[in-house]
Amino acid sequence: MIKTLAWTDDGVEMVDQRLLPAEEVYPVFKTYEEVAWAIKEMVVRGAPAIGVAAAMGVALGARDIPSEDAAAFDADFQKICDVLAGTRPTAVNLFWAIERMRSLYTRLKSEQTSLADIRARLIVEAKQMHDEDIAINQAMGRHGAELLADGATVLTHCNAGALATAGYGTALGVIRAAVEAGKRVAVFADETRPFLQGARLTAWELQKDSIPVTLITDNMAGHFMKAGQIDCVVVGADRIAANGDVANKIGTYSVAVLAKENNIPFYVAAPISTLDLTLTSGTQIPIEERTPREVTHVKDVQLAPSGIKIANPAFDVTPNRYVSAIITERGVARAPYEESLRRLANS
Ligand code: MRU
Repeated sequence: MIKTLAWTDDGVEMVDQRLLPAEEVYPVFKTYEEVAWAIKEMVVRGAPAIGVAAAMGVALGARDIPSEDAAAFDADFQKICDVLAGTRPTAVNLFWAIERMRSLYTRLKSEQTSLADIRARLIVEAKQMHDEDIAINQAMGRHGAELLADGATVLTHCNAGALATAGYGTALGVIRAAVEAGKRVAVFADETRPFLQGARLTAWELQKDSIPVTLITDNMAGHFMKAGQIDCVVVGADRIAANGDVANKIGTYSVAVLAKENNIPFYVAAPISTLDLTLTSGTQIPIEERTPREVTHVKDVQLAPSGIKIANPAFDVTPNRYVSAIITERGVARAPYEESLRRLANS
């Protein structure tokens, strides 16, 4: 099993995803500031994984607050949460995870719990969120696997696998569960420019698991759909609005439009923690703009002329009309999503 991130007594250990697949190294991030840096720089990435990393960052930061004075501890705790929340804006799991840690802290404080016990309980909570995330992905996988026919070829975009979660994956979890159920499934992985999560991470993960995978460049997806070589699309999500609009890795929207044009089902696999029912539509989802260097360069090789104007939105929003179903750990939601998502969220 791929080890994305783990709590250790020295800090948060994470596989450095910037270096995969060429190098598989597991640095330990020893302070909450280092964890925040790792999230921002995409050492760890993928909505559920950054949620768990942030929760561990909160636990780590709280453990190392030097003060034994409740008011000083409180000020430091809020600062830790704010720094971690300021790392990446689109994936709602980050804010969900920090909020879960914050509300546990608030409850323990109101129960007059000692600072030593608060510190210990925050560590337990973060570790529990890690383990829960794997169980959630496995449950999601079981629901989603029923949508895949034996012999299906699935197109996926970005990496919504074990590396994007505490383990197993959302979209790739659906594929893993179908394979575990005895179905023969093959995958087409979009390379996913500019950060190449598909080429570097999805291809690596699936190859490691011996699941047949064909890597294609992003602009090939339509060709293979039209040729009848893709049976369905399964992707992950970073934030889903109440109406079922889905924010996911840049390029997902193009894939969804192509899928509809070619009468191919387009499935989104995401945990309930990716739902943001406070937003009525996807137009309200903040889209992260990342450094131009991701577009102008591949590693240290410059591809574009110096000084060229660059746009680099890291995510796009797929309107709900392109989404055939949303697979969660509590079941599969279909349109109208206002009702089905709310029902699952409250179940
Ligand atoms: O910028 P990234 O690599 O963090 O973006 C990741 C994605 O867009 C994933 O598809 C999404 O987080 C779902 S991961 C289970």
